[in-house]
Amino acid sequence: MKKFGAQNRRNFMKAAGVTALMSAAGSGSAMGMGMGQSRGSGKGYNFDDIYSRIGVNSVKWDSAIRRYGRDNITVPMGIADLDFKQPPFVVSALKKRAEYENYGYETLPDSYYQAIIDWNKERYGQEVKKEWIRNSSALKPGMISSMRGLNPVKGKVIIFTPTYSGFNGAITKAGMTQVMSPMKKVNGRWKMDMEAFKERLDYETKCVILCNPNNPSGECWTADELRELGDVCMEHGVTVLADEIHCDFVNKGQKFVPYASIGEKYANSSITYRSPSKTFGQANLKVAYFFTQNQDLMNATMIGGGHDAGCNSFGLIACETAFREGAQWVDDVQEYIDGNFDYLVEYVNKSGNMPGVEYSKPEGTYLAWLDCNGIIDKVITDEYRKSYHDKMRDAGRRHSGLTKEMAFGEWLVENSGVQLNAGSGYGIGAEGFMRMNIGVPRSSLEKALGHMNDALKKAM
Ligand SMILES: Cc1ncc(COP(=O)(O)O)c(C=O)c1O
Repeated sequence: MKKFGAQNRRNFMKAAGVTALMSAAGSGSAMGMGMGQSRGSGKGYNFDDIYSRIGVNSVKWDSAIRRYGRDNITVPMGIADLDFKQPPFVVSALKKRAEYENYGYETLPDSYYQAIIDWNKERYGQEVKKEWIRNSSALKPGMISSMRGLNPVKGKVIIFTPTYSGFNGAITKAGMTQVMSPMKKVNGRWKMDMEAFKERLDYETKCVILCNPNNPSGECWTADELRELGDVCMEHGVTVLADEIHCDFVNKGQKFVPYASIGEKYANSSITYRSPSKTFGQANLKVAYFFTQNQDLMNATMIGGGHDAGCNSFGLIACETAFREGAQWVDDVQEYIDGNFDYLVEYVNKSGNMPGVEYSKPEGTYLAWLDCNGIIDKVITDEYRKSYHDKMRDAGRRHSGLTKEMAFGEWLVENSGVQLNAGSGYGIGAEGFMRMNIGVPRSSLEKALGHMNDALKKAM
């Protein structure tokens, strides 16, 4: 979201104040350390280089390699994190902090909150007050606390499917019951179906999870769509838990509308969850935040208390530095991902390419939701499923049910070395879909598509 020019960005960074690093380590400033390494304004960052993530216990690469063997993995494109290097100014700040040789308990410095406040104002035009914000070790723990605090025991939490597979686990961890409200596809775009939603609302439902932009299908919900949802929720006394973790990935011509920005009453009946983890690739630094202007909702969340409100020194510094200095980096990475989407769309839609796969450009995220219905039943025969099941059993591996999408995922690895996420994890409406993470250098995307294309052509 390029809302402000370079001059504003500089002013923003200048005005951002004391850093977490200063208060933690007592020396220097993240600005001073980071800016020297930034390439300044305008498309300076390089996302083309391959940066190996092998041998560092990365879930995306190392888990795939452990499971299938190094020679059998070309490009893993599963779990949602970026294969790019961390912004250099964040690395500098972390190195500096590491040099201060005490890692004991710390409090959250004001500068951390200020960086969040400034980032929200600058990027999304949102006024967030310090007293509305709470820290969390990741996005889901905060949301779990809210669900616990707001719902009756085993109360229902509604999600709009297809949506992020991790909600299921979070709802279960909170001790709640997940209810899927299937979306409808209208003119190639998923829409939340208010009739289906209303049918599922009852006295046991106190929360709904909104995923904006939606993982995996990428819709950036419009203000009208959000109000329509909010009006139904308010009528039924339901709180909107707005997961906006993907909000910094918005394709050209699209717009991210924060739920809490659409009007006072909507802000007052919702909690927003965000994190620098997707945007800057900081998932394992374990830092996230959530906010609401409604003190009752915050109190309920605190009573729910499932999250660890403590802070990880490195996560805090990474987050604060990224928010202070990362505007250009985000603009650049967004543009790069947009280019990856263009490449992918053109490739899939080129005559003769990727038989059985349909795809058009989404509005946001760095996840491609590929419709593989035209191929999946051709390659995933009952025989293939049985052999996959037997292979798993013989290897002593547990697997949680065998869907045709999971089997297709196996088939793709076997035949192309590309690992995708099976659509079946994303709920009703995901049949025949696979999720591809395109937060990778262009050359990796090209390679993966080339391998997939060869495999699919052979199979047809
Ligand atoms: C929509 C969405 N929410 C939450 C998460 C998980 O975030 P965290 O690891 O911070 O709990 C993800 C991760 O992929 C996600 O896509």
